[in-house]
Order: sequence, then structure tokens, then C-alpha cells
Amino acid sequence: MNIIVFVSGRGSNLEAILNSELLKGKINVTAVVSDKLQCGAFEIAKRNSISTYTVGNKEGCISYTNLADILISLNIDVIVLAGFLKLIPGFIVSDYKNKIINIHPALLPSFGGKGLYGMNVHKAVFESSAKVSGPTVHFVDETYDTGRIIAQKCVDISDVTKPEEIAARVLEAEHKLLPFVLSKFAEGKIKIVNNRVMIN
Ligand code: GRF
Repeated sequence: MNIIVFVSGRGSNLEAILNSELLKGKINVTAVVSDKLQCGAFEIAKRNSISTYTVGNKEGCISYTNLADILISLNIDVIVLAGFLKLIPGFIVSDYKNKIINIHPALLPSFGGKGLYGMNVHKAVFESSAKVSGPTVHFVDETYDTGRIIAQKCVDISDVTKPEEIAARVLEAEHKLLPFVLSKFAEGKIKIVNNRVMIN
């Protein structure tokens, strides 16, 4: 299965995908795309000899139209958003319906939407006094964090004393959940039945 990973930051989820034993021989990370000219995830891509592209309007960037051509030429099966902060344009969302997934560091539909990314999410969870958090992998639609939920993992945060502890526990769970979901995609075991996403 050919995947492409979209990133904006450090790339620990990209690294988890590349190092996953579960995914060995099942997926091919064809390229990494960012809205930044430089980011930690690009360093990881380069170390693994994976092509990188920056999408946007600045010099040195490609347009979303160029990107759509690249997706076709790479024969992409699944687009993975792993910390990508921009919205995906509607024409790509409709061309890749139920083929774009995002990982969000909280249990959606709570603590999602515009502005709720990175530490903002964990601070909001902390301030709510919630006792559980955890990553959500969901399909991507045209708005932030509203697509159908594919998989979630609960993490106990009842004893935390600061948002950074929530972030660390959730990230550890992300690094397992995203490879797990991709392995199920590669095995053709993700189906939509009666508007619910089923994994078998
Ligand atoms: C992760 O917490 C992910 O859930 C969120 O952005 C963060 C990306 O981290 N969407 P990394 O770049 O994969 O380390």
C-alpha cells in the first residue's frame, strides 16, 4: 500500500510509521509533504531517503494542483496527516474520499476543531479536569477534526499534575495507534457499515 505523510513539525508519528514492525512489508512511504520549508519531519524523511515537498505559495513550494498530480503519479492509496496543520483543499478531499486519515491527540469529538492542536489540546483537556484522554484516528473531511472516527485509544490521566504529562502519555499511544490503523488499511480490514467505521 502506497502512503504519503503530511507533516508540519517534529515527525515522531512519521518515525513511528517508518520503524513499525507491524507495517514491515505492508506499506511504502512514498513521500513526505509539509507546509513548512524546513521541519524535524523532513530531517527524518531525508535520513530515510524519502522525497519531500513543501506545499504553499512561497518560493520553493508547490501548489495544491501540482500536489494532486504528484499523488496520482505516486499511485497513493492513503494520505496520512500526522501533525499537518493546514486544511486539505476540497478537491483533494473529494478525490480521496475515505482515503485521507488524520491523527488527533485527544478523544474526538471533544477537544477538536480550529485552534485545538499541539499543546493547546492538552491544556484544554487538563483544564477540563477530564480523567481520560488519548489519540483519535479519523477520516478527513473539509473541516477540522469532524470526519468519521476510525480508532481511539483511552489513556488514564487521572493522576497528572500538568498538561505536559498528558501530552507524553497520549503521544506514546499515538505511536501505536497510527501504525495499527495503517496495518488494518493495508489488510483491507477497514470498512464503513451503516455510517460507522468497522475494523476487523
Ligand atoms: C501529534 O500529537 C498529532 O496527534 C497531532 O500533531 C502531533 C504531531 O506530532 N496532530 P509529530 O510531528 O508526529 O511528532
